[in-house]
Amino acid sequence: MSVLVPTMGALHKGHQALIKRARSMSKEVVVSIFVNPLQFENEEDIVKYPRSPERDIQLATLAGATEIWMPDYEEIYPGEITKLHAGPLGDIYEGASRPGHFDGVVTVVSRLFEIVKPDTAIFGEKDFQQLQIIRALKKSVEIIGVPTVREFDGLALSSRNVRLTPEGRISANVIYRAMAAARLAPTVAIAQEIISTTIATDSSFKCDYAVIVDEDDFTEATDMTKHKRAIIAGWIDGVRLIDNMRMGA
Ligand code: PAF
Repeated sequence: MSVLVPTMGALHKGHQALIKRARSMSKEVVVSIFVNPLQFENEEDIVKYPRSPERDIQLATLAGATEIWMPDYEEIYPGEITKLHAGPLGDIYEGASRPGHFDGVVTVVSRLFEIVKPDTAIFGEKDFQQLQIIRALKKSVEIIGVPTVREFDGLALSSRNVRLTPEGRISANVIYRAMAAARLAPTVAIAQEIISTTIATDSSFKCDYAVIVDEDDFTEATDMTKHKRAIIAGWIDGVRLIDNMRMGA
């Protein structure tokens, strides 16, 4: 049985948790490292994307990767690219702010699956909308989501965190604080209120969205919704941060 952990490199403890989970399931763990140009909105973001191949090899190996695959562009996209469409879930929230992003994600993930032919693939819950979109592709690959790894103060690990200023880094845990404070609220309305008021306490966080949704279809949650999740995105110091948390006990 083979397990694939798709990444874009700049590995950190969050990726290592995915690789460790893969290794707990299988002796064959392929970690792919490919910065997929199709999922970036502009050239500048691709150029700015952190790259640390030597360190990535070390971290992936330490976490249990048995193969580290760094394909080049031609290997993933030989000839003309047939871009796939992520479907309606790809056009809202993260997809609305980053048009075409999820189309790029599903296109590369499908190619990685075609080439590696894994039995299972592991993704982080940190990018929860991405995870649900990939699940909805209903490929013959089992998809496993792994809980987000957090810093000591709750900030979700992300390769973008290094771009925060020291002040921004301190402010950034407002996202986690808002969700954690709302998690056990008795109603969705109260949870939503707690999230909005907590976020408003830090003016450096420029909120894009902060809502509680149904985990399956991302419609706004009601008290009747079985699995509710707070999803939050915004910018600090111009750095886009996203996070999410299951609401309820
Ligand atoms: O989450 C990521 O790192 C990327 O979106 C993925 C899934 C590796 C596709 O490029």
